[in-house]
Amino acid sequence: MHDFLKRLPKAELHLHIEGSLEPELMFALAERNGVSLPYASVEEVRSAYDFTDLQSFLDLYFQGMSVLRTAEDFHDLAMDYFRRASDEGVVHVEMHVDPQAHLARGVELPVVMEGLSLARRRAQRELGMSTALIMAFLRDRPAEEAIAVMESAAPYWEMLDAVGLDSAERGNPPAKFVEVFERARQLGIARVAHAGEEGPPAYIREALDLLDVSRIDHGVRCLEDPDLVARLRDEGVVLTVCPLSNVRLRVVERMTDHPLPQLLDAGLRLTLNSDDPAYFGGGMLANFTACHEAFGWSKEIFIQLAETAIDAAFISEARRLELHRQLAACH
Ligand code: ADE
Ligand code: ZN
Repeated sequence: MHDFLKRLPKAELHLHIEGSLEPELMFALAERNGVSLPYASVEEVRSAYDFTDLQSFLDLYFQGMSVLRTAEDFHDLAMDYFRRASDEGVVHVEMHVDPQAHLARGVELPVVMEGLSLARRRAQRELGMSTALIMAFLRDRPAEEAIAVMESAAPYWEMLDAVGLDSAERGNPPAKFVEVFERARQLGIARVAHAGEEGPPAYIREALDLLDVSRIDHGVRCLEDPDLVARLRDEGVVLTVCPLSNVRLRVVERMTDHPLPQLLDAGLRLTLNSDDPAYFGGGMLANFTACHEAFGWSKEIFIQLAETAIDAAFISEARRLELHRQLAACH
């Protein structure tokens, strides 16, 4: 099964590029940029990754990204992840990026975009990997700040495959970001949002009704609201589920408690993703493997999940066809 899961052409739709920063690269960049870290070793960093909830993770996630200062850093960060993912059989990556987290540290948008663009071109050329970019807004920051970032990103609108909504969910409902998402819609930019990770099912409804999103990131708490589950099924809304993330952030206690089997039984369209692989114990292959171990899923289920990811990806129809062909050839 491991060989099959590795060979399976996997499209990743939910990945925070800053959450792919492995401790080894964190130390290398800290040294290159003269940034001091509150850790003595790579082992010490890893042992600090013992989270109690989303906020306890976000604190270390924002601290970790302090080593990212130059376009070269963002390039190295993304290439490091693309190479690892490619080795695991990932053929397409859609990455969220958090511009506000960098602006707050004096790292301007062109630095971030230039580094990531360089890495994306290189991934295409050297790994045959397609990528997409999702500019995310930090929902615990003011809506006005998100609007200002959206406007200042005008030179990069063409490069954006979608806008997203992430960071601390509770108390920061999608309704807060109606204006900036409406602006994205007017500009013809697709929309996604984290909802129903720690927040209530009502936030999933809001994301659909008020932000007009085409996918829900996480969404696992929809099961608390049967009418919402029926709606998600009827409308074919895709949930980008991140099983190891949910365990590490204690959305669920253990993998065997994860609601993925119920979500699947409910007829929902699901994909498996790594979220923040450097912080949550592994990338795409680890997430697929953990599902196999916890639920004993057959190859057919993994093929179905891989198929849904290809169908829901922000890619050209030509690329979609190519990935469907790769998937058909692997089994
Ligand atoms: N930012 C990075 N990872 C996140 C997650 N799992 N939820 C919300 N915001 C995030
Ligand atoms: Zn996420």
